[in-house]
Amino acid sequence: MKVGILGGGQLARMLALAGHPLGLKFAVIDPAPDACAFSVAEPMCGAWEDRELLNRMAACADVVTCEFENVPAESLWYLAERVPTYPPPEAQAAKRDRLKEKQLFGELEVPAPAHQAVSSPAELHEAVERLGLPLVLKTRSYGYDGKGQRVLTGREDIEAAAQTLRAPMIAEQFVRFSREVSIVAVRGRNGQTAYYPIAENVHSQGILFTSRCRPSDPVEHLARGYAARLLDRLGYVGVLAIEFFEADGRLLANEFAPRVHNTGHWTI
Ligand SMILES: Nc1ncnc2c1ncn2[C@@H]1O[C@H](COP(=O)(O)OP(=O)(O)O)[C@@H](O)[C@H]1O
Ligand SMILES: [Mg+2]
Repeated sequence: MKVGILGGGQLARMLALAGHPLGLKFAVIDPAPDACAFSVAEPMCGAWEDRELLNRMAACADVVTCEFENVPAESLWYLAERVPTYPPPEAQAAKRDRLKEKQLFGELEVPAPAHQAVSSPAELHEAVERLGLPLVLKTRSYGYDGKGQRVLTGREDIEAAAQTLRAPMIAEQFVRFSREVSIVAVRGRNGQTAYYPIAENVHSQGILFTSRCRPSDPVEHLARGYAARLLDRLGYVGVLAIEFFEADGRLLANEFAPRVHNTGHWTI
């Protein structure tokens, strides 16, 4: 069986290295000629939107997946019409926009930090009125490892942010969490579902620093229930991670990742 992966970063590389002993072959699309997964998979170098490349991928792969949330959902929809593509492109579409992601949590009654779309200085001021300070201002797309976001604590920050606003953005209430946790769930084509233990995560300057697992974590049950809602709603197949803030014994969903996740490297 050949697995096509959109994205040739370290997660694709690890997928391919884990798949080789199982007899799986891999093909990887990435625009960077030196993508690190190219050395362990059939390399297909080019743009995510390149139809010729996507056609080649559809022709050679038995199944396609994605390791990177900035791959356009349109490319996944295009592939899904030609070859089984998991996770469902709808998950990628919601993930690529932090507002849609939060709206999905809202629809599923998964608690999340209070938030508001911000596309102009006037909307930023409204957000400050409604959400209070401090607040976190994030770009709606293309952020990762804390990039594209800043914490506003006072009037000066607000003025500076208003002047350099890169619409569209989202403002979120700053959550004074006691810890950050994540859950990784996986569901097969037959619907069989498994959950990895909760990871307790510490970030340093926006980048994941440590992930620890506590057996019988008291919020495990809550996190599984929320993950199950996303899996069901999206008709999910594949690996799904959700990051949460824990505050006062409650979980607030921060974001999800429709892919393998760096808080779930349990075997390395
Ligand atoms: N609303 C918030 N309140 C408090 N801390 C936050 C909030 N949003 C993000 N952070 C902090 O910033 C980190 C990175 O933000 P996140 O939304 O997960 O973006 P990324 O896609 O960069 O991982 C989080 O893990 C958390 O430590
Ligand atoms: Mg995060």
